[in-house]
Amino acid sequence: MESDYFQKIYDNHFFDGEGRAVIAQLTEHLEYNIHNTSKKTIAWKSPEEELNFWRHYFESGRNKDFFEETLRRTTHIHNPKYVGHQVAAPAPITALTALVGALLNNGGAVFEMGMATNAMERIVTDVLCEKMGWEADARGILTSGGTLANLTALLSARRAKIDEDIWNDGLTKPLGVMVCEEAHYCIERAAKIMGLGEKGIVKIPASHNFAMDVTQLEAAYAQATKEGITIFAIVGSAPSTATGAYDNLEAIGAFANNYNLWFHVDGAHGGAAIFSRKYRHLLNGIENADSVVIDGHKMMLMPTITTALLYRNGNDSYATFSQTADYLLTEVDEEDWYNLGKRTFECTKTMMSMHWFVLLKFYGEELFDKFVTRQYDLAKDFELLLEQQQDFEIAVSPASNIICFRFVKPELNRGELNHLNGQIREQLLSQGEFYLVQTKLRGSLFLRTTLMSPFTEKQHLRHLLQTIRATAHSIN
Ligand SMILES: Cc1ncc(COP(=O)(O)O)c(C=O)c1O
Repeated sequence: MESDYFQKIYDNHFFDGEGRAVIAQLTEHLEYNIHNTSKKTIAWKSPEEELNFWRHYFESGRNKDFFEETLRRTTHIHNPKYVGHQVAAPAPITALTALVGALLNNGGAVFEMGMATNAMERIVTDVLCEKMGWEADARGILTSGGTLANLTALLSARRAKIDEDIWNDGLTKPLGVMVCEEAHYCIERAAKIMGLGEKGIVKIPASHNFAMDVTQLEAAYAQATKEGITIFAIVGSAPSTATGAYDNLEAIGAFANNYNLWFHVDGAHGGAAIFSRKYRHLLNGIENADSVVIDGHKMMLMPTITTALLYRNGNDSYATFSQTADYLLTEVDEEDWYNLGKRTFECTKTMMSMHWFVLLKFYGEELFDKFVTRQYDLAKDFELLLEQQQDFEIAVSPASNIICFRFVKPELNRGELNHLNGQIREQLLSQGEFYLVQTKLRGSLFLRTTLMSPFTEKQHLRHLLQTIRATAHSIN
């Protein structure tokens, strides 16, 4: 009987038994990684080797060790020696909310399909809007990632600032967005998806510290206008990705106000500093933004993928995907904040609000204050440490928990240094003890670290520099 077949798939004992075993494995994984008895953050294999392994596995009769193999073959983000990409080491409770969300699978597009989580989403986005210093008519949504949130914000911006009915008629004239050349590539991608083309992304040069050179704004705006481009939005990065530099949000906001532009802040990485009493000042001026993006899965200790998109004026959130004015909060009998699919790109999405809700409910805002402050402080310590070494050079003083630096030797020219640092990073990757990345800044290759683990200490960073030095000497 078919029903017997499905009874087996959904068998309670299976779920309970496997579930307990997986939780036990993950607990051990956390224990090893956090207390660093596990030496490696990554057991690096080439893409072909990895593909072959999983092909064989797929075709074999094995399945008992599926979770074990997956653990072994992934990058261990909770390890204090993970200093790579900007992905959170999730607080374990959020792995439980992810599990619950996966099984309950309420998609949230309409209220009945997400009663609890849609209410939670309203509560947590209200908390975030309040942190921005906004009034009660501010609103937010949660969506699947900073990339999608930035695109949604720019669609809202165009809807709010351009009179033409682009939603129905398509583009009728050249439009543009201003952003620093150092901004995350997803802003350019969003502009291109929106049909703005190459000319529609007006890049403002960065100054020596890699933040937007706001003295260039007037000239860039005048030039774009001369070329017939109607600028409707300006984006500030808080911070930018490669170096972690915060743009001057006060200056950008004032400029936006002068020219009646939409002011968007991409705070995917460092918007969480709004919770840090010590570093909140980096976001001065954010209160004047029309929209702000903050990733939960970066500096807010949540699993991928969840992003808050916040609007100073809630009407703008309802207008994004609508051309008629029936969304206006003052014109409707009841604001249907609970039918989330109206305001998000997604129709169905994961039950992501649970992550935000449990962290705020169980640990309070203090968790984010402590976490952001600790990581940004640690970056300053790392900078000091680097300054004490003759054979290391830092790209720029860190404003956040992102630090770019490189090994130097006076006798090597730029090309040779780039080559050497590229080789160092390759060797570190294959050794697997540390995981860090690399980036090219103004033609020079730098090693790039983001201090994501709340367990990374100065001693790990000291050891990282020793390892790099030893690797560099072994290369020659
Ligand atoms: C500043 C900034 N914006 C946007 C993004 C993209 O966010 P996501 O990876 O959540 O799509 C990133 C990712 O690193 C980022 O650093």
